[in-house]
Amino acid sequence: METVLSGIRPTGNLHLGNYFGAVKNFLKMQETHRCFFFIADYHSLTTHPNPSDLHGNVKQVLAEYLAAGLDPEKATLYVQSDLPEIAELYLFLNMNAYVGELERVTTFKEKVRKQPDNVNAGLLTYPTLMAADIIIHRADKVPVGKDQEQHLEMARTFARRFNRMYKQEYFPIPNAFNFGEELVKIPGLDGSGKMGKSEGEGNAVFLVDDAKTIRKKVMRAVTDSGPTEPNQPKPEAIQNLFTLMQVVSEPEIISHFDEQYNTCAIRYGDLKKQLAEDINTFVTPLRERILDIKANDAYLSKVARLGAEKARESARQTIREVREIIGFRPF
Ligand code: TYM
Repeated sequence: METVLSGIRPTGNLHLGNYFGAVKNFLKMQETHRCFFFIADYHSLTTHPNPSDLHGNVKQVLAEYLAAGLDPEKATLYVQSDLPEIAELYLFLNMNAYVGELERVTTFKEKVRKQPDNVNAGLLTYPTLMAADIIIHRADKVPVGKDQEQHLEMARTFARRFNRMYKQEYFPIPNAFNFGEELVKIPGLDGSGKMGKSEGEGNAVFLVDDAKTIRKKVMRAVTDSGPTEPNQPKPEAIQNLFTLMQVVSEPEIISHFDEQYNTCAIRYGDLKKQLAEDINTFVTPLRERILDIKANDAYLSKVARLGAEKARESARQTIREVREIIGFRPF
């Protein structure tokens, strides 16, 4: 049976990009695959969170995963820092990861540009930690959004390198995965780029946003003065709104606005109103479940304990075998 693994950094609430980029595909797979879903709290240390924020964010993401439909009986849902084996594998992989290749990773270069005062070694070796996350359970498929494509490429490189170095096909080579083949990039509301937590206020719609907040954010989304000629390609900001509609609205609604755009009759105010309504219809049941689950500490701690137990069993086995392969052998 194939193994599937996915994860998220606990740095705030889940947004629609996380949901449609990673969570949705994963949900479909938990019925048919050996599935691991984890909260990447080691990773979030690169931004130096304070301890209570860190814990609060882990709890939030755990509640959000469960609310989205992740079944802790079917999938293994765990917190990364409950598995010290990951840190050990990360150490091993770092010995064969080269500074030059790590420095060329786009996300690293971006961080250097955006936060020149905190270019820590954890940021540089982020792809090795991510590779350790994936191969600790010898995963085959990794549902992620488009922004993680390069990290997945690095994980493949590190898995292959280990196999080559020790002359055996121990680690499967993991694949970034999406049912629709192409990896997904959900756009934000600010007219360019992707939806993201760190892309600025109002750019992301969170699963916990209420109707009023969603409406406010969507009504403020960037648009332009409208098409002046029929059947023109849509500029990025407008295309982004249509892309969002594609994930939350009925096909007839999308073709209605498409036609209005193509005949220059479109009123962006109407389109936004409809989009806000459809997003709200989508997130309302999620929001309600998130709030319920978050209030249930006993349930959350039971889920985390069960997940840690199951995940550790798998991680321990890998570490035992990897130690043997590397040559750490008992006397
Ligand atoms: P993170 O926490 O930034 O995002 C979690 C998941 O959501 C996806 N995502 C998006 N997908 C489509 N459109 C968007 N606008 C969008 N924004 C975010 C991400 O692609 C990701 O799948 N490094 C990872 C966490 C991680 C991980 C792993 C993932 C650590 N180890 C091992 C998979 C396997 C990250 O920071 O994702």
